[in-house]
Amino acid sequence: MNRPHLIKIPERGGTRVTNDGESMNILCIGDVVGKPGRDAVERLLDDLKEEFRVDLVIVNVENAAGGSGVTSKIAKHFLEIGCDVLTSGDHVWDQKELEEYLKEEPFLLRPANFPEGAPGRGWCIKSTPSGIKVGVVNMIGRVFMRYNVDCPFRALDTIIEEIKKETSIIVVDMHAEATSEKVAMGHYGDGRVSCVFGTHTHIQTADEKILPNGTAYITDLGMTGPYDSVIGQKKENILRRFLTSLPLRFNVADGEATLHGIVIEIDEKTGKALHIMRIQREDKAFQEQSGKKESCSAMQNE
Ligand SMILES: [Fe+2]
Ligand SMILES: [Fe+2]
Repeated sequence: MNRPHLIKIPERGGTRVTNDGESMNILCIGDVVGKPGRDAVERLLDDLKEEFRVDLVIVNVENAAGGSGVTSKIAKHFLEIGCDVLTSGDHVWDQKELEEYLKEEPFLLRPANFPEGAPGRGWCIKSTPSGIKVGVVNMIGRVFMRYNVDCPFRALDTIIEEIKKETSIIVVDMHAEATSEKVAMGHYGDGRVSCVFGTHTHIQTADEKILPNGTAYITDLGMTGPYDSVIGQKKENILRRFLTSLPLRFNVADGEATLHGIVIEIDEKTGKALHIMRIQREDKAFQEQSGKKESCSAMQNE
Protein backbone atom coordinates (compact mmCIF):
# COMPACT_ATOMS: atom_id res chain seq x y z
CA MET A 1 0.00 0.00 0.00
CA ASN A 2 1.31 3.43 -0.91
CA ARG A 3 1.62 5.65 2.10
CA PRO A 4 -0.67 8.65 2.06
CA HIS A 5 1.52 11.48 0.88
CA LEU A 6 2.23 15.13 0.81
CA ILE A 7 0.57 16.56 3.86
CA LYS A 8 1.46 20.20 4.04
CA ILE A 9 1.44 21.66 7.51
CA PRO A 10 1.37 25.44 7.22
CA GLU A 11 4.15 27.39 8.78
CA ARG A 12 3.39 30.82 10.13
CA GLY A 13 2.23 32.87 7.18
CA GLY A 14 1.05 29.83 5.26
CA THR A 15 2.50 27.58 2.60
CA ARG A 16 1.32 28.12 -0.92
CA VAL A 17 -0.68 25.42 -2.62
CA THR A 18 0.40 25.38 -6.25
CA ASN A 19 -2.08 25.24 -9.06
CA ASP A 20 -0.55 24.32 -12.39
CA GLY A 21 -3.75 24.59 -14.39
CA GLU A 22 -4.77 20.94 -14.21
CA SER A 23 -5.79 21.08 -10.62
CA MET A 24 -8.14 23.28 -8.68
CA ASN A 25 -8.12 24.64 -5.14
CA ILE A 26 -11.10 24.65 -2.84
CA LEU A 27 -11.23 26.62 0.40
CA CYS A 28 -13.46 25.09 3.10
CA ILE A 29 -14.25 27.23 6.15
CA GLY A 30 -15.42 25.77 9.47
CA ASP A 31 -18.58 26.69 11.41
CA VAL A 32 -18.99 30.46 11.37
CA VAL A 33 -20.15 31.68 14.80
CA GLY A 34 -22.01 34.96 15.25
CA LYS A 35 -20.91 38.40 14.15
CA PRO A 36 -17.24 37.95 15.06
CA GLY A 37 -17.14 34.91 12.77
CA ARG A 38 -19.05 36.65 9.97
CA ASP A 39 -16.75 39.68 10.15
CA ALA A 40 -13.68 37.41 10.04
CA VAL A 41 -14.92 35.72 6.85
CA GLU A 42 -15.73 39.06 5.29
CA ARG A 43 -12.34 40.57 6.13
CA LEU A 44 -10.13 37.55 5.38
CA LEU A 45 -11.85 35.93 2.39
CA ASP A 46 -10.41 37.99 -0.47
CA ASP A 47 -6.82 37.61 0.76
CA LEU A 48 -7.22 33.86 1.27
CA LYS A 49 -8.69 33.46 -2.21
CA GLU A 50 -5.77 35.31 -3.71
CA GLU A 51 -3.09 33.63 -1.61
CA PHE A 52 -4.26 30.10 -2.38
CA ARG A 53 -5.66 30.78 -5.86
CA VAL A 54 -9.00 29.50 -4.73
CA ASP A 55 -11.49 28.33 -7.34
CA LEU A 56 -14.38 27.58 -5.00
CA VAL A 57 -15.32 28.45 -1.42
CA ILE A 58 -17.45 26.25 0.84
CA VAL A 59 -18.49 27.65 4.23
CA ASN A 60 -20.41 26.01 7.07
CA VAL A 61 -22.80 28.69 8.31
CA GLU A 62 -24.89 26.77 10.84
CA ASN A 63 -24.02 29.13 13.74
CA ALA A 64 -23.73 32.39 11.82
CA ALA A 65 -26.86 34.03 13.27
CA GLY A 66 -26.00 34.71 16.91
CA GLY A 67 -24.70 31.16 17.24
CA SER A 68 -28.03 29.60 16.26
CA GLY A 69 -28.61 28.80 12.64
CA VAL A 70 -28.46 31.28 9.82
CA THR A 71 -30.99 33.79 8.50
CA SER A 72 -31.80 34.32 4.83
CA LYS A 73 -30.27 37.80 5.03
CA ILE A 74 -26.97 36.50 6.39
CA ALA A 75 -26.88 33.60 3.92
CA LYS A 76 -27.47 35.98 1.01
CA HIS A 77 -24.64 38.17 2.25
CA PHE A 78 -22.21 35.23 2.38
CA LEU A 79 -23.06 34.41 -1.24
CA GLU A 80 -22.66 38.06 -2.26
CA ILE A 81 -19.17 38.43 -0.76
CA GLY A 82 -17.80 35.42 -2.64
CA CYS A 83 -18.74 32.26 -0.76
CA ASP A 84 -19.96 29.75 -3.33
CA VAL A 85 -21.70 27.00 -1.36
CA LEU A 86 -23.05 27.23 2.19
CA THR A 87 -23.44 24.11 4.30
CA SER A 88 -25.16 23.65 7.66
CA GLY A 89 -25.95 21.06 10.29
CA ASP A 90 -28.07 20.42 13.37
CA HIS A 91 -28.74 24.16 13.84
CA VAL A 92 -30.22 24.60 10.39
CA TRP A 93 -33.79 24.78 11.71
CA ASP A 94 -33.06 27.34 14.45
CA GLN A 95 -34.23 30.29 12.35
CA LYS A 96 -37.74 29.46 11.24
CA GLU A 97 -37.78 31.94 8.36
CA LEU A 98 -34.89 30.10 6.70
CA GLU A 99 -37.17 27.28 5.56
CA GLU A 100 -38.56 29.29 2.62
CA TYR A 101 -35.11 30.47 1.57
CA LEU A 102 -33.78 26.90 1.74
CA LYS A 103 -36.37 25.93 -0.84
CA GLU A 104 -35.32 28.63 -3.29
CA GLU A 105 -31.49 28.91 -2.86
CA PRO A 106 -29.70 25.95 -4.47
CA PHE A 107 -26.33 26.76 -2.95
CA LEU A 108 -27.47 26.81 0.67
CA LEU A 109 -27.56 23.20 1.87
CA ARG A 110 -29.13 21.38 4.79
CA PRO A 111 -27.99 17.85 5.64
CA ALA A 112 -28.97 15.52 2.80
CA ASN A 113 -29.96 12.66 5.09
CA PHE A 114 -32.87 14.45 6.75
CA PRO A 115 -35.98 12.40 6.03
CA GLU A 116 -37.97 13.07 2.90
CA GLY A 117 -40.19 16.12 3.25
CA ALA A 118 -37.60 18.34 4.93
CA PRO A 119 -37.34 21.68 3.11
CA GLY A 120 -34.36 22.46 0.92
CA ARG A 121 -31.69 20.22 -0.55
CA GLY A 122 -28.64 18.39 0.71
CA TRP A 123 -26.35 18.56 -2.27
CA CYS A 124 -25.63 20.73 -5.26
CA ILE A 125 -23.33 21.10 -8.23
CA LYS A 126 -21.59 24.45 -8.49
CA SER A 127 -19.53 25.63 -11.45
CA THR A 128 -16.36 27.63 -10.88
CA PRO A 129 -15.69 30.78 -12.96
CA SER A 130 -13.57 28.63 -15.30
CA GLY A 131 -16.41 26.16 -15.74
CA ILE A 132 -15.28 23.26 -13.53
CA LYS A 133 -18.21 21.52 -11.88
CA VAL A 134 -17.96 20.64 -8.21
CA GLY A 135 -20.48 18.52 -6.33
CA VAL A 136 -20.95 19.51 -2.69
CA VAL A 137 -22.76 17.23 -0.24
CA ASN A 138 -23.88 18.06 3.30
CA MET A 139 -24.41 15.10 5.67
CA ILE A 140 -25.21 14.88 9.36
CA GLY A 141 -24.06 12.12 11.71
CA ARG A 142 -26.25 9.96 13.93
CA VAL A 143 -23.91 9.28 16.86
CA PHE A 144 -24.51 11.65 19.81
CA MET A 145 -26.64 13.93 17.61
CA ARG A 146 -30.13 15.15 18.45
CA TYR A 147 -31.99 14.20 15.26
CA ASN A 148 -33.16 10.84 14.00
CA VAL A 149 -32.01 10.99 10.43
CA ASP A 150 -31.47 8.55 7.61
CA CYS A 151 -28.20 6.65 7.32
CA PRO A 152 -25.58 9.10 6.00
CA PHE A 153 -23.53 6.28 4.49
CA ARG A 154 -26.35 4.81 2.39
CA ALA A 155 -27.51 8.33 1.48
CA LEU A 156 -24.05 9.14 0.15
CA ASP A 157 -24.14 6.19 -2.28
CA THR A 158 -27.25 7.52 -4.02
CA ILE A 159 -25.95 11.08 -4.18
CA ILE A 160 -22.53 10.08 -5.55
CA GLU A 161 -24.32 8.24 -8.35
CA GLU A 162 -26.28 11.37 -9.23
CA ILE A 163 -23.32 13.77 -9.08
CA LYS A 164 -21.01 11.47 -11.05
CA LYS A 165 -23.28 11.93 -14.06
CA GLU A 166 -21.89 15.48 -14.24
CA THR A 167 -18.55 15.61 -12.41
CA SER A 168 -16.01 13.50 -10.56
CA ILE A 169 -15.14 16.32 -8.15
CA ILE A 170 -17.19 15.83 -4.97
CA VAL A 171 -16.70 17.40 -1.54
CA VAL A 172 -18.58 16.15 1.52
CA ASP A 173 -19.24 18.12 4.72
CA MET A 174 -19.83 15.43 7.39
CA HIS A 175 -21.42 17.37 10.24
CA ALA A 176 -21.05 15.10 13.25
CA GLU A 177 -19.97 14.81 16.86
CA ALA A 178 -18.24 11.44 16.98
CA THR A 179 -14.76 11.27 15.48
CA SER A 180 -15.31 7.57 14.70
CA GLU A 181 -18.34 8.29 12.53
CA LYS A 182 -16.44 10.98 10.63
CA VAL A 183 -13.35 8.81 10.11
CA ALA A 184 -15.62 6.00 8.92
CA MET A 185 -17.27 8.37 6.44
CA GLY A 186 -13.83 9.37 5.16
CA HIS A 187 -12.98 5.74 4.42
CA TYR A 188 -16.44 5.06 3.02
CA GLY A 189 -16.00 7.85 0.49
CA ASP A 190 -12.31 7.14 -0.20
CA GLY A 191 -11.70 6.93 -3.91
CA ARG A 192 -15.27 7.93 -4.74
CA VAL A 193 -15.22 11.54 -3.51
CA SER A 194 -12.48 14.19 -3.55
CA CYS A 195 -12.73 15.23 0.09
CA VAL A 196 -14.58 14.45 3.30
CA PHE A 197 -14.23 17.14 5.94
CA GLY A 198 -15.92 17.19 9.32
CA THR A 199 -17.69 20.08 10.98
CA HIS A 200 -19.75 20.63 14.17
CA THR A 201 -17.26 20.26 17.06
CA HIS A 202 -15.75 23.73 16.44
CA ILE A 203 -12.29 22.36 17.28
CA GLN A 204 -9.84 21.90 14.44
CA THR A 205 -8.23 18.46 14.35
CA ALA A 206 -4.65 17.83 13.24
CA ASP A 207 -5.33 14.67 11.25
CA GLU A 208 -5.53 16.01 7.72
CA LYS A 209 -4.39 13.42 5.22
CA ILE A 210 -4.88 11.93 1.80
CA LEU A 211 -6.54 8.54 2.24
CA PRO A 212 -5.15 5.52 0.29
CA ASN A 213 -7.51 5.89 -2.67
CA GLY A 214 -7.10 9.63 -3.10
CA THR A 215 -9.69 11.32 -0.87
CA ALA A 216 -8.59 14.28 1.25
CA TYR A 217 -9.78 13.96 4.83
CA ILE A 218 -9.90 15.92 8.11
CA THR A 219 -12.06 15.11 11.13
CA ASP A 220 -12.98 18.74 11.81
CA LEU A 221 -12.27 22.05 10.11
CA GLY A 222 -12.63 23.95 13.38
CA MET A 223 -14.59 27.13 14.03
CA THR A 224 -14.59 30.61 12.58
CA GLY A 225 -15.52 32.65 15.59
CA PRO A 226 -14.40 34.24 18.86
CA TYR A 227 -11.06 32.90 19.98
CA ASP A 228 -11.42 33.53 23.71
CA SER A 229 -14.49 31.39 24.22
CA VAL A 230 -15.81 27.87 24.69
CA ILE A 231 -16.55 26.80 21.09
CA GLY A 232 -17.71 30.34 20.32
CA GLN A 233 -19.87 30.97 23.37
CA LYS A 234 -19.07 33.21 26.35
CA LYS A 235 -16.84 31.10 28.56
CA GLU A 236 -18.34 32.42 31.82
CA ASN A 237 -21.82 31.17 30.88
CA ILE A 238 -20.57 27.77 29.82
CA LEU A 239 -18.47 27.35 32.94
CA ARG A 240 -21.45 28.30 35.12
CA ARG A 241 -23.54 25.72 33.37
CA PHE A 242 -20.92 23.02 33.93
CA LEU A 243 -20.56 24.02 37.57
CA THR A 244 -24.26 24.33 38.44
CA SER A 245 -26.12 22.28 35.79
CA LEU A 246 -28.59 25.16 35.56
CA PRO A 247 -30.18 25.70 32.13
CA LEU A 248 -28.44 28.98 31.33
CA ARG A 249 -28.70 30.90 28.10
CA PHE A 250 -25.63 30.83 25.88
CA ASN A 251 -24.32 33.96 24.20
CA VAL A 252 -21.76 34.37 21.48
CA ALA A 253 -18.48 35.61 22.96
CA ASP A 254 -17.00 38.97 22.01
CA GLY A 255 -13.56 39.69 20.74
CA GLU A 256 -11.15 38.70 18.06
CA ALA A 257 -12.09 35.77 15.86
CA THR A 258 -9.96 33.11 14.25
CA LEU A 259 -10.85 31.57 10.90
CA HIS A 260 -10.31 27.82 10.69
CA GLY A 261 -10.48 25.67 7.61
CA ILE A 262 -8.60 23.81 4.92
CA VAL A 263 -7.45 24.30 1.36
CA ILE A 264 -7.58 21.23 -0.83
CA GLU A 265 -6.01 20.80 -4.23
CA ILE A 266 -7.88 18.43 -6.55
CA ASP A 267 -6.96 16.95 -9.90
CA GLU A 268 -9.58 18.33 -12.25
CA LYS A 269 -9.75 15.25 -14.44
CA THR A 270 -9.78 12.43 -11.90
CA GLY A 271 -11.34 14.23 -8.93
CA LYS A 272 -8.59 12.82 -6.69
CA ALA A 273 -7.11 15.03 -4.00
CA LEU A 274 -3.48 16.10 -4.41
CA HIS A 275 -2.96 18.16 -1.25
CA ILE A 276 -4.79 19.10 1.91
CA MET A 277 -3.64 21.91 4.13
CA ARG A 278 -5.05 23.21 7.38
CA ILE A 279 -5.38 26.95 7.83
CA GLN A 280 -5.86 29.12 10.90
CA ARG A 281 -6.05 32.87 10.46
CA GLU A 282 -6.51 35.60 13.03
CA ASP A 283 -8.81 38.44 12.13
CA LYS A 284 -6.09 41.06 12.51
CA ALA A 285 -8.37 43.82 11.28
CA PHE A 286 -10.39 43.29 14.43
CA GLN A 287 -7.32 44.15 16.52
CA GLU A 288 -6.69 47.24 14.42
CA GLN A 289 -10.29 48.33 14.77
CA SER A 290 -10.23 47.76 18.52
CA GLY A 291 -6.99 49.70 18.75
CA LYS A 292 -8.58 52.61 16.91
CA LYS A 293 -11.60 52.52 19.18
CA GLU A 294 -9.43 52.50 22.30
CA SER A 295 -7.36 55.44 21.15
CA CYS A 296 -10.54 57.35 20.29
CA SER A 297 -12.06 56.82 23.69
CA ALA A 298 -8.72 57.64 25.32
CA MET A 299 -8.76 60.94 23.51
CA GLN A 300 -12.31 61.59 24.59
CA ASN A 301 -11.37 60.90 28.18
CA GLU A 302 -8.55 63.41 28.14
FE1 LIG B 1 -23.57 21.50 14.65
FE1 LIG C 1 -21.49 24.40 14.70
